Amino acid sequence: MQQQLAEIEARALAAVHEAKSAEQLAELKVAYLGKKGEITSVSRMMGQLSPEERPVLGAAVNQAKSNVEQAVARRMAELKAEEQNARLASEVIDVTLPGRRISKGGRHILSLVQEQMEDIFIGMGYTVEEGPQVEYDYYNFEALNLPPEHPARDMQDSFYFSERMLLRTQTSPVQVRTMEKMGGKLPVKIISPGVVYRRDDDATHSPMFHQMEGLLIDERVTFADLNGTLLAFARQMFGAEREVRMRPSYFPFTEPSAEVDISCFNCGGKGCRLCKGSGWIEVLGSGQVHPKVLEMSGYDPEKCSGFAFGMGIERIAMLKYGITDLRLMYDNDVRFLSSF
Ligand code: PHE
Repeated sequence: MQQQLAEIEARALAAVHEAKSAEQLAELKVAYLGKKGEITSVSRMMGQLSPEERPVLGAAVNQAKSNVEQAVARRMAELKAEEQNARLASEVIDVTLPGRRISKGGRHILSLVQEQMEDIFIGMGYTVEEGPQVEYDYYNFEALNLPPEHPARDMQDSFYFSERMLLRTQTSPVQVRTMEKMGGKLPVKIISPGVVYRRDDDATHSPMFHQMEGLLIDERVTFADLNGTLLAFARQMFGAEREVRMRPSYFPFTEPSAEVDISCFNCGGKGCRLCKGSGWIEVLGSGQVHPKVLEMSGYDPEKCSGFAFGMGIERIAMLKYGITDLRLMYDNDVRFLSSF
């Protein structure tokens, strides 16, 4: 039996020595040392031996097992080293190649456009005011000369929390809040960018969008000042050749009111697809602040006058960058966002 064991061991060691892969080694391990392996089965024949011979054979089996195990471990290490050497010999790494760039986030197009707009007005001496998005009916409508039953409220249907509170539909309530805060002092000269909400949803309307309000009140502010201010804005935003045109309009908080168009920067006014052939593009609503609005917020319409305007920031961004669907600006597709 001893001799049989020695013979198996010799065969096992030779096979291990010749093994070419880790898988082959694993198979050999099972074949010799596994539960039904050849070396293991020698110890099963122990029953045929006398009690004195048993421990001798037992020790021999253990010795054989450990010899084969060690051989497997050694061969495994050799194979690993060979594999690594082969890889090092064939693999070429160019350490002078530049590393992979970590992509950095950028600012959203709406933040960029808002900032450009703010810069233009700050350059004309305006300061930036902000107001709450959850607003009182009083500031959003009533103090802007839209009493509860006023039909113009329908154009700006909103999301209500209660009869008195809603998501603001325009940035105009910041006009009222600023006048209250200034307590009758002159001049009032602010812009107010921010989020507004309406029950609207299509390619050019979103239930949430951004507006920028402007308000100037001083001793003798005229419609001509409004015109000049908007012309200066249009030229800085859309190019030095732009002209502005005012069309009569209606807002309850301004009188007279005007819809303001700028000459089309795509065709220069000749008429194209962007301006729908008219040569003009509508950009904002504006007007002279209604005397009632001044009065309600503590300003005497006999002693001062003012103008106000409000424009959609999305609309300015779409015009400036030729974006045809407003919703792209909210989809968070990096391919779109990273192109600005
Ligand atoms: N708040 C008006 C709107 O959302 C725009 C506007 C602002 C008009 C200020 C006149 C003066 O449509």
